[in-house]
Amino acid sequence: MKKIIVLLSLAIIGCKSNEKIIAPTGLLTDKAMVVSAREEASEIGVAIMKKGGNAFDAMVATELALAVSYPQAGNIGGGGFMVFRKANGETGAMDYREKAPWAATKDMFLDKDGNVIEGKSTATAFASGVPGTLAGLFAVHKKHGSLPIAEILAPVIALAKKGVVVTEHQAKSLADYRATFIKTNGPNSLFSQEYKAGDSIKYPALAATLQRVSDNGRDEFYNGETAHKLIAFLTQKGGNMTLKDLNAYEAKWRAPITFKYKELKITSMSPPSSGGICLNQIMKMIEPFDLSVMGHNSVKAIQVITEAERRAYADRNSFLGDPDFVKLPVAALLDSIYIKNRMSDFSFDKASKSSEIGKGNIPGYESKQTTHYSIVDSEGNAVSATTTLNDNYGSKIYCDELGFFLNNQMDDFSAKPGVPNLYGLTGTEANSIAPGKRMLSSMTPTIVEKDRKLFMVLGTPGGSTIITSVLQTILNVYEYNMSMQQAVNAPRFHHQWLPDEITFEPASFDKELLEKVKEKGYKVNETNKEIVGQVDAILVLQNGKLEGGADKREDNKAVGF
Ligand code: DON
Repeated sequence: MKKIIVLLSLAIIGCKSNEKIIAPTGLLTDKAMVVSAREEASEIGVAIMKKGGNAFDAMVATELALAVSYPQAGNIGGGGFMVFRKANGETGAMDYREKAPWAATKDMFLDKDGNVIEGKSTATAFASGVPGTLAGLFAVHKKHGSLPIAEILAPVIALAKKGVVVTEHQAKSLADYRATFIKTNGPNSLFSQEYKAGDSIKYPALAATLQRVSDNGRDEFYNGETAHKLIAFLTQKGGNMTLKDLNAYEAKWRAPITFKYKELKITSMSPPSSGGICLNQIMKMIEPFDLSVMGHNSVKAIQVITEAERRAYADRNSFLGDPDFVKLPVAALLDSIYIKNRMSDFSFDKASKSSEIGKGNIPGYESKQTTHYSIVDSEGNAVSATTTLNDNYGSKIYCDELGFFLNNQMDDFSAKPGVPNLYGLTGTEANSIAPGKRMLSSMTPTIVEKDRKLFMVLGTPGGSTIITSVLQTILNVYEYNMSMQQAVNAPRFHHQWLPDEITFEPASFDKELLEKVKEKGYKVNETNKEIVGQVDAILVLQNGKLEGGADKREDNKAVGF
């Protein structure tokens, strides 16, 4: 009897026909959910839906609440990408990626000898692309929103005024960066102060900026008082962004990348993010292999996934950039015969060599920050959005008067062919700097359908590892029958062509397994601890309930009703 009750109480995930019944282990709700990097942001997004707002209204609220509560990545001084699927099946994508200012030049980060000037693309006023976040949010709201902007922004502004409690993770992060903040912004700047866990930080300047945005709309940021103050601030910091850059900024609706993986339909971000194309290539390369039989994180599964990743990232670095500036060979890259041929030299006996697939020489990664949130509303509309300042706290340049950090997204361009950026990624002409051009991204906000119904909403930060973390999370649910929460928590690994090594999440993989991987000729790196992102995801169970997957790796939180 007890057994029957347990079985009945298990919600069933809609997986393949031979799957086991999986008990959800994340938050379960009936109607709507937000999973984001901070509880405050998830709460505000959910409150907007409880008031009758839809997933798009909740997007505006969540994203701006992250700008308040998660300053290392949540932003109005950066940009992002969003993929949506409406309850009627319509899909689309919003590109609110930053753009290079008009004064930007191809060689702006090189010295007179043609060498990259260290730090210029990451830690100066030249590091910032023209911010896209508010343009993106207003464009989404205009097309799909339902509640008035002022109603959506009210709880966000209230949060900024009331203050946000510093978590343990945040206290550590702020302490790690304090010396840099003091050096960059002076000792009196908001983040130059000392904060410990449990303190509350109030954001009156950001509250005032958001209030003006609420009163005056999008143009406040791109042509109003905020625009003028921002340009005055950046000019005084020696930057090259002008009012003309802000005036000219436009967020863009794009056709997303869509493809099938077995019985799943995947919708993900198109260029100028490489996420969707890379994910498409990798999933098509691994589709012929029976990963579920090989086993989760088995040597064989690691080999197949690694070799597909190696090949997809080689293409990414060679061919992709802003489609408004360069002709991208998208059809050729996604051609089924091309993809099949790409894996034709793969063998389980021995690792391929990146030097034989492409060239390059790259140092290690550093810890970075971006943020992703997933939303499903009670109508079944879904929003998957990833937003970033690029590095943790962007360029670290904080405008105290307006209350926000500026991005250092210019580093995502290829400053010089073959020279790696913050994520060890190299690029070519396709991703070189040009005025008004968008820098190539790895952000991969993704929505998965099964049997034509919404199945999963997911994404993550993690720089170059974003694509491979999204991939593994989908596989964890679909191939390995994990619950949403187990899938986002499971240990992850990553290969990006160059450097030619597999990065394994530290202290998460069995030593014996790693030895076997090495025996196959792979270089194993277990030292980069923050490269695997924080996946925030929602799974629609077969009974219609929602299961949240809030990554255990930081303060991520699922909230719903
Ligand atoms: O767009 C990109 O690919 C990067 N700027 C993302 C940065 C990132 O994910 C940092 N997070 N951990």
